[in-house]
Amino acid sequence: MTDPSFPSVRPRRLRATPAWRRLARETRVHPEQLVLPVFVREGAGEPLPIASMPGVVQHSIDSLRREIVRAAEAGLGGVMLFGVPEHKDAEGSGATDPDGILNVATRLAVEEAGDALVVQTDLCLDEFTDHGHCGVLDAHGAVDNDATLDRYRDMALAQAEAGSQLLGLSGMMDGQVDVVRSALDDAGRTDVAILAYAAKYASAFYGPFRDAVQSSLQGDRRTYQLDAANRREGAREVALDLAEGADIVMVKPAMSYLDVLADAAATSPVPVWAYQVSGEYSMIEAAAAHGWIDRERAVDESITGIVRAGADAVLTYWAVEAAERLSGRG
Ligand code: PBG
Repeated sequence: MTDPSFPSVRPRRLRATPAWRRLARETRVHPEQLVLPVFVREGAGEPLPIASMPGVVQHSIDSLRREIVRAAEAGLGGVMLFGVPEHKDAEGSGATDPDGILNVATRLAVEEAGDALVVQTDLCLDEFTDHGHCGVLDAHGAVDNDATLDRYRDMALAQAEAGSQLLGLSGMMDGQVDVVRSALDDAGRTDVAILAYAAKYASAFYGPFRDAVQSSLQGDRRTYQLDAANRREGAREVALDLAEGADIVMVKPAMSYLDVLADAAATSPVPVWAYQVSGEYSMIEAAAAHGWIDRERAVDESITGIVRAGADAVLTYWAVEAAERLSGRG
């Protein structure tokens, strides 16, 4: 090129200084867009570390209280509670027991959170069943969709009774949103909202979570969770859950499914959330522990990428840390 004015288009101008980069930034993540998943273990006297998720624990009732305060002080949008019961059985009866760990934890979290957080609960049987599946099994050992819906209905009512404001339907049974919405409405609980894990993929990235909830699953969840290869089917599941009355739809995992997330964000009339799952967390933590990546930058980049792809909110195990950094308190 001989023209001395070439190139006249110079995008680098807006990248020249930190001030320029801040001003030119397209995506911002706010603490209130972050939701912290929290594990609560029945009978635990103190918080117990989860080996495959360094920095994440199974909470005791006491440490749950402190975690709720921390989440509120960090300005998070909410917490998603998971129960780890002492006893499991084929029906997952701990899930519907008002004195089951998840329902007990929910009452406590609601009391502690006041108006500061939206208290949310995982509505699924896998933490409570001795076979580890998200539903009940038929005589051949297959997950029985419609029998499972009966359990979800009871679980929804128990969680609503305990004070959960948002039920996270993560079981991937057909018709689950419809059944739970009707059950809540019939019980006069029109105030309780539904977060549909609409496009939830059968993923290797849930590995550390199985450790976190001491899942007894043998085999996999491929007969109910989506095949990783399917983008259109993800969109179909989102559309179905919207038609069934979901208040919020979610894509899960996040990082390997950003196209599915972007599709949902472009078409959904309701908020679209994403779940940055346990394996996504542990991968970054493990690489950082080896000194192979810059931990804080990787964490922030991973969350920013999910928001950039279209998530209105993100469930992430780094919620408190990221919120503190974002608000300059970290
Ligand atoms: C189902 C549920 C799972 C996760 C959230 N809800 C496990 C599964 O579907 O296998 C995984 C979350 C994570 O990996 O962080 N109760």
